[in-house]
Amino acid sequence: MSLRISVIGTGYLGAVHAACMAELGHTVVGIDVDAKKIEALSQGRSPIYEPGLTDLLTRMTETGRLSWSTDISAAADADVHFVCVGTPQRAGEYAANTDYVFAAFTALAPHMKAGSIAVGKSTVPVGTVPRVLEAIRENVPDGVDARLVWNPEFLREGFAVKDTLTPDRFVYGVEGEFADADVEKLDEVYAKALAAGTPRLVTNYATAELVKVSANAFLATKISFINAMAEICEATGGDVLALADAIGHDERIGRKFLGAGVGFGGGCLPKDIRAFLARGEELGLPDSVDFLRGVDATNLRRRERVVTLVEGALGDVAGKPIAVLGAAFKPNSDDIRDSPALDVAERLVQLGADVRVHDPEALPVARANRPGPNYVDTVDEALDGAQIVLHLTEWKQYRELDPTDVASKVAGKVVIDGRNVLDGGRWADAGFTVHSLGRPVVEAR
Ligand code: UDX
Repeated sequence: MSLRISVIGTGYLGAVHAACMAELGHTVVGIDVDAKKIEALSQGRSPIYEPGLTDLLTRMTETGRLSWSTDISAAADADVHFVCVGTPQRAGEYAANTDYVFAAFTALAPHMKAGSIAVGKSTVPVGTVPRVLEAIRENVPDGVDARLVWNPEFLREGFAVKDTLTPDRFVYGVEGEFADADVEKLDEVYAKALAAGTPRLVTNYATAELVKVSANAFLATKISFINAMAEICEATGGDVLALADAIGHDERIGRKFLGAGVGFGGGCLPKDIRAFLARGEELGLPDSVDFLRGVDATNLRRRERVVTLVEGALGDVAGKPIAVLGAAFKPNSDDIRDSPALDVAERLVQLGADVRVHDPEALPVARANRPGPNYVDTVDEALDGAQIVLHLTEWKQYRELDPTDVASKVAGKVVIDGRNVLDGGRWADAGFTVHSLGRPVVEAR
């Protein structure tokens, strides 16, 4: 059955969610306080780089089922309201900032009609949802029940459309007298994926809040585990790639998220583990979350390791041209939040190096938000005369570079593969000394 849906907050999560809800046949209005975003989306333009999103927006705009507004009262007709606003790390502390979540639900509540439900998708510290429900209760019109489901998202940037339309699972956090009706309503929203067999877990609020942060804490731990092994490999002559392959064959471990390299970044993993640390301490359970300090520290040490390798190769880096391939926190995204690549680039800028950063998609947002490195539009401009090449975001086009061609452009034949995906043998054959993280150095041949 087709429903009327509002989606409040049209960032990475909300813009994709709104378009995907329209794709499922629902009539959707996306709402945001940012007029620029709404203007772009109204013209079918995606405010972010996300594969498949522009095409989906164009198609959905043509159906007439998808509209956009800066006015929260546009949500009034909807049966289901999804709140998809961000919960960034608070400046100067580890805790997540939930102000936007409370502001969104408080603004929405006066426009909720009888029988409609509010659904939170944002990642929030455990214990937040009952307070959100209270905020709704205080602001709904007389005679309208405050109904709230917590339905965390698990989408990965770069695969956001697919992850929204065909997720691994749905989690519905429900409580109170409307719990069964709320589950039924959300089942209508996701009817297509449920019919295709997607698992759906119904939990209480606390569990639903915890599912998301614990999933991200687990993924971050897995990456930092293999990066800690990379450190051990570096000291002992081991090869972390072979190590990951070998332990990954054990089905209990699995090979995914054992990609050693310059570590994790982005808008979720780093912020979520820090928010979890802060929340654990608030709850009087610092020991239960203490391991995340090590996870965070290991992750950040990998960035420093790249800088150390550069200094090992070049000595004093001041004034020396360095090519940095990649600015986004991962490929197929223009998201530079907590990007390891940019962090390394900025550290080298601070040491006085002439750092030229290229990225296929993230340059506009990097130029606007992270002045410092010299951002260049082509790979050739980054390579021209560079004394060292740093491969820090594994875009396909970098993997496909011809090392012989690169060799003809650079001044120093040293490459650091911060993502462990370049073919070291080919680069060595082209005269490069290849440093990888957690792997033996491959000398130039
Ligand atoms: C993550 C979760 O995967 C997703 O389920 C959640 O909803 C939001 O956070 P995302 O931030 O888009 O998604 O990126 P993800 O693909 O998980 O990668 C996170 C970071 O880890 C990237 O910087 C990536 O380069 C790095 N990474 C990933 C590794 O360093 N090694 C790996 O093996 C995998």
